[in-house]
Amino acid sequence: MYCDAITRMVFVAAFCVLVLSVPMFALDNGLMRTPPMGWLAWERFRCDIDCQNDPKNCISEVLFRDMADRLAEDGWRELGYVYVNIDDCWASKLRDSNGRLQADPKRFPSGIPHLAQYIHDRGLKLGIYGDMGTYTCGGYPGTTLDKITIDAQTFADWKVDMLKFDGCYSNDTEQEQGYPAMSKALNATGRPIGYSCSWPAYQGGLPPKVNYTLLGEICNLWRNYGDIEDSWGSVLSIADWFYNNQDILQPAAGPGRWNDPDMLVVGDFGLSMDQSRSQMALWAIMAAPLFMSNDLRTISSQARSVLQNKVAIGINQDPMGIQGRRLLKEKSGIEVFWRPLSDKASALVFFSRRTDMPYRYQTSLGKLNYTTGSYHIYDVFAEREMSVLKDSTNFVVSVNPSGVVMWYVSAPFDADQEYGHVGEKLRGPAFYRHANVVSPIIL
Ligand SMILES: *[C@@H]1O[C@H](CO)[C@@H](O)[C@H](O)[C@H]1NC(C)=O
Ligand SMILES: *[C@@H]1O[C@H](CO)[C@@H](O)[C@H](O)[C@H]1NC(C)=O
Ligand SMILES: *[C@@H]1O[C@H](CO)[C@@H](O)[C@H](O)[C@H]1NC(C)=O
Ligand SMILES: *[C@@H]1O[C@H](CO)[C@@H](O)[C@H](O)[C@H]1NC(C)=O
Repeated sequence: MYCDAITRMVFVAAFCVLVLSVPMFALDNGLMRTPPMGWLAWERFRCDIDCQNDPKNCISEVLFRDMADRLAEDGWRELGYVYVNIDDCWASKLRDSNGRLQADPKRFPSGIPHLAQYIHDRGLKLGIYGDMGTYTCGGYPGTTLDKITIDAQTFADWKVDMLKFDGCYSNDTEQEQGYPAMSKALNATGRPIGYSCSWPAYQGGLPPKVNYTLLGEICNLWRNYGDIEDSWGSVLSIADWFYNNQDILQPAAGPGRWNDPDMLVVGDFGLSMDQSRSQMALWAIMAAPLFMSNDLRTISSQARSVLQNKVAIGINQDPMGIQGRRLLKEKSGIEVFWRPLSDKASALVFFSRRTDMPYRYQTSLGKLNYTTGSYHIYDVFAEREMSVLKDSTNFVVSVNPSGVVMWYVSAPFDADQEYGHVGEKLRGPAFYRHANVVSPIIL
């Protein structure tokens, strides 16, 4: 478990205990009290149905079994990545003689219930995809209003654990009726099924068309905005939309109810390592669901280490479930993000939009509105304890172009009491030992 690795750091220990003792409040379906984590087929594998010529990558039971094996055997499951989620193009173009959805018989010859069993046997959960409308976006059978009850029951009978409900081929009125109706229908099956609603993405993502109070009552997560693509431009435009609208979106999130900026594309083809860390950091601050869409069979060890970063995951999964915010957008192109965490701790991200060279950003915790006191700093991606910073201490962080420096910041404490006289101790060799590109330099 990840806490073992980090308990040697006193200041993270309390944080760990809290992460492991997530309180379960009786609310709604009781699911997804922290943002759901797992794997989702769409961004990486799309609607590839050519199993003849591309048998390993086509949307088939082989692909999902392969990913389940990787999640179970390569350390993902223990970190929380437990959902194996099917997206569009899994279904037969025809409903069966009872009007029920059925999987494509050639590509899923064993059927969805069998796949669910395979996935459950490995301690994982199965997600499936449906569409509020006449057709799915890929042209497969949709769930019109009259089919909501039967489709919810079918998914429950198959022992599905999560539903992503898209919104192609429906109008506003149908969506207004269909999304709450599916929520009721899922509940009526008696099987807890996590419910992801694409509804707000079809309504522009903002009030007055979107009612986030209502969404929080009927969905566990919702897609607010367009689909992610395998490029830095796409990641950046999504991050910008979410943080530009944070005053509306941030209060909507909480345990059991999450804004979903879409999949992690870390491990694919479009992002550098710096950009990969940036996506992970910005998604963690946002309390975003962490659904990877990549090929876990061939992922590089570097990408894996970003996605398996225990403290970044711990920050994402903080049990208070408070979505973070962008604090500052500097003229220099540096942006600062902040998320309050359990045990009076917090996370900070320094992000650079620059395209020239590492930028030396100077600030202090006081300037970022931290209260008076001293703070232990842990650099999340360098994976080491950095230094103790007083709120008044000026420091410099060096942030790579399109990269981040992410910190876990402890609760404030009185360094004079803990260490005796503050001085040499804080500025001494133990600190400078780490003074490379990612270390804060005390001025
Ligand atoms: C259905 O909703 C009720 C009331 O909100 C809740 O107590 C129950 O746990 C829900 N059941 C499922 C399976 O989601
Ligand atoms: C939405 O579609 C339904 C048919 O499914 C139709 O009866 C209704 O008039 C449409 N509403 C709008 C506002 O277009
Ligand atoms: C939004 O939904 C909530 C909960 O259903 C409801 O009480 C509220 O009146 C709605 N707000 C608006 C502006 O329609
Ligand atoms: C700090 O707080 C002040 C007063 O509330 C506010 O004006 C300022 O924008 C805050 N600064 C940051 C970086 O959040």
